[in-house]
Amino acid sequence: AFEIALARSAMTLQVPAGRTILQVLQENGVDLPSSCEQGACGTCVCGVLEGDVAHQDVYLSASEHAANDRIMTCVSRAKSARLVLDI
Ligand code: FES
Repeated sequence: AFEIALARSAMTLQVPAGRTILQVLQENGVDLPSSCEQGACGTCVCGVLEGDVAHQDVYLSASEHAANDRIMTCVSRAKSARLVLDI
């Protein structure tokens, strides 16, 4: 599990194993658009302000992954204990 802090809404949520960031956001009333839910389309992108992303999408390039400033919330997770998202 890891924690996501939502910078614009001052909300902090836990993402357990087996749930995606996107699911946790939607369950908590945060409406982020999504489409493929397989890390391929880019619809569910969210800005990352702090923390290390464990990228699992096939949408961003290797250099975009290395930039660590965006996450595909339907598949990618955190390497750090906490991510601060720009939402
Ligand atoms: Fe398509 Fe996440 S919904 S990449």
